[in-house]
Amino acid sequence: MYTQAMSVGPQDAPSKKIKTAEELQQEQAFEARIDAGDFIEAKDWMPEHYRKTLVRQISQHAHSEIVGMLPEGNWITRAPTLKRKAILLAKVQDEAGHGLYLYSAAETLGTSRDQMLDALHSGKAKYSSIFNYPTLTWADIGVIGWLVDGAAIMNQVPLCRCSYAPYARAMIRVCREESFHQRQGYESLLVMMREGTPEQKAMVQDAVNRWWWPSLMMFGPADKDSPNSEQSIRWGIKRVTNDQLRQKFVDATVPQAEILGVSLPDPDLKWNAERGEHDFGAIDWAEFWRVVNGDGPMNRERLGARVKAWEDGAWVREAALAHARKQATKEQAA
Ligand code: 3HC
Repeated sequence: MYTQAMSVGPQDAPSKKIKTAEELQQEQAFEARIDAGDFIEAKDWMPEHYRKTLVRQISQHAHSEIVGMLPEGNWITRAPTLKRKAILLAKVQDEAGHGLYLYSAAETLGTSRDQMLDALHSGKAKYSSIFNYPTLTWADIGVIGWLVDGAAIMNQVPLCRCSYAPYARAMIRVCREESFHQRQGYESLLVMMREGTPEQKAMVQDAVNRWWWPSLMMFGPADKDSPNSEQSIRWGIKRVTNDQLRQKFVDATVPQAEILGVSLPDPDLKWNAERGEHDFGAIDWAEFWRVVNGDGPMNRERLGARVKAWEDGAWVREAALAHARKQATKEQAA
């Protein structure tokens, strides 16, 4: 069970063993590189805690991409037109690609695909809480593009400047594709709100009401409750805090909601001229941690679907490995 207090886990905390003079010197040189704004490559020396923090974040980011395919994939066969089906197919396929980039970026840190997927399937690793909510109507698909991918872009653009270079490089291409994801979602909602029937407009408003607060939770716990943020900011893994990104997302999304003609389900949401940003209501952190801890509306289905896909695909992995071994034997014999 994940508790708010715990963070990277006792096994990941910096070890207490006495450091040699050489290790201390390497650490100082690393910190100086981070302070100078250097990017760290896979072959460079790095503190074990930096490595483990990146494996945790990048692997969970990859899991989020792959699990995130499920809610939208649910609507591919039920898209209202061929155009919407083609767009949704392309988006879900993009998310698979994002997952593969990110698993590959994590592998540069010495972990393996099997280890990461075992951590996901056993419930040890997390994925974004947002994907544990059901997609009840077609409007959910547009709202996911607008709000979920919109929040993902807000969170992922600063990661293009993450101090770990392979992660930053993976993010550059991901962010370009996310922009298409966000725009296609918003455009489909514009069509429904401008040309749709009253029932379709109500469908959009219902979806916004269900996805708004879980989208704000995507940015993570409040800074004061984030055990990882301080060190991640120090190391240049995180360039902006959870609360700062959440605020930026709210400020960017309110005008978009006005253009769309939907209301956001927060009576406390209002412009604060003094602060130059929006005030918004309290987030239900009990719900957030309940969903993060596996008790959300769809957690069991999502993890069950991933475990089933892994088990169903075992024969493909065995065949590919057998072929690779045969090839290697042939090449050795040649
Ligand atoms: N869902 C599940 N777990 C979450 C979470 C969320 N929305 N927000 C935070 N957590 C977890 C963290 O993983 C951490 O647990 P851990 O130590 O066991 O990993 C704990 O809650 C405390 O949170 P912190 O803020 O201290 O943790 P981080 O410093 O790692 O910050 C984060 C959390 C902002 C999500 C950061 O990990 C991050 O930026 N990750 C990369 C981006 C990412 O993963 N986005 C997820 C969505 S991907 C997506 O939307 C795909 C798009 O195509 C739709």
